[in-house]
Amino acid sequence: MAARNEERRGRFNEAQIVQPIGPRPSASHNHALPHESLDPAQMDSQDLYRLLVSAVVPRPIALVSTVDADGRPNLAPFSFFQLGGVAPASLVVSITAGSEGWEKDTLANLRATGEFVVNLVTREMVEGMNLTSRRLPKGDDEWQLTSFSHVSSDVVRPDGVAESPMRFECRVHTIVEHGTEKGSARYVIGEILRIHTHVREDGTAFLPVGRMGGAWYIDTAVPELFHLERPSDEERRP
Ligand SMILES: Cc1cc2nc3c(=O)[nH]c(=O)nc-3n(C[C@H](O)[C@H](O)[C@H](O)COP(=O)(O)O)c2cc1C
Repeated sequence: MAARNEERRGRFNEAQIVQPIGPRPSASHNHALPHESLDPAQMDSQDLYRLLVSAVVPRPIALVSTVDADGRPNLAPFSFFQLGGVAPASLVVSITAGSEGWEKDTLANLRATGEFVVNLVTREMVEGMNLTSRRLPKGDDEWQLTSFSHVSSDVVRPDGVAESPMRFECRVHTIVEHGTEKGSARYVIGEILRIHTHVREDGTAFLPVGRMGGAWYIDTAVPELFHLERPSDEERRP
């Protein structure tokens, strides 16, 4: 197994899989493609990570604010993040496990307090957001690495980031653990209790940044937007 992993390591490097400016395929011509089939369980874990995070893009970034049992604040970004539903409103963030059972501070805080704030991230916030991903000793406060300002929450203990144009106060609904190895998922499902949104004077929506593969991000304010209506029920029937 080790030899096979060694052989496969490095197959998916950034240059091969991240092509931020590539040729645009014509939308009207779909061609069947030849594929290579891979068993994730047999792949080198770094290669697998690089392949998956370059494929599921762009990913929104949840800048998650929590406090520990003593009320000490913590801030960290997570791009394994999605909405889940609207009745009730819910979202999911996946916090991956470290080696030998080590847990990220955010996850430990969520287990201890059950409360968090998801702050969405714009282009102006990326440097601060990036700094909060540093691994500091437990209890040390990533807010201090940034110029972000605290804003009190209505119904949860952790503060929000005042510079973020939209934030969600959440309560943990369930934590689902999938696997035990380093890199395995801890899905934190949160119920959204409050939404704070900045409405711009010109009425336009804010556009967050998304995470691509490697160290690539996309500023969703810059690329072309296109509109695609869902097929009607009639058209969706086989
Ligand atoms: C843009 C970005 C996205 C990230 N996404 C995730 C993620 O989805 N899941 C995860 O476990 N770690 C992710 N990380 C790494 C964590 O932010 C990092 O492990 C951090 O130190 C965790 O902080 P904590 O120990 O204070 O919770 C991401 C880092 C960056 C910069």
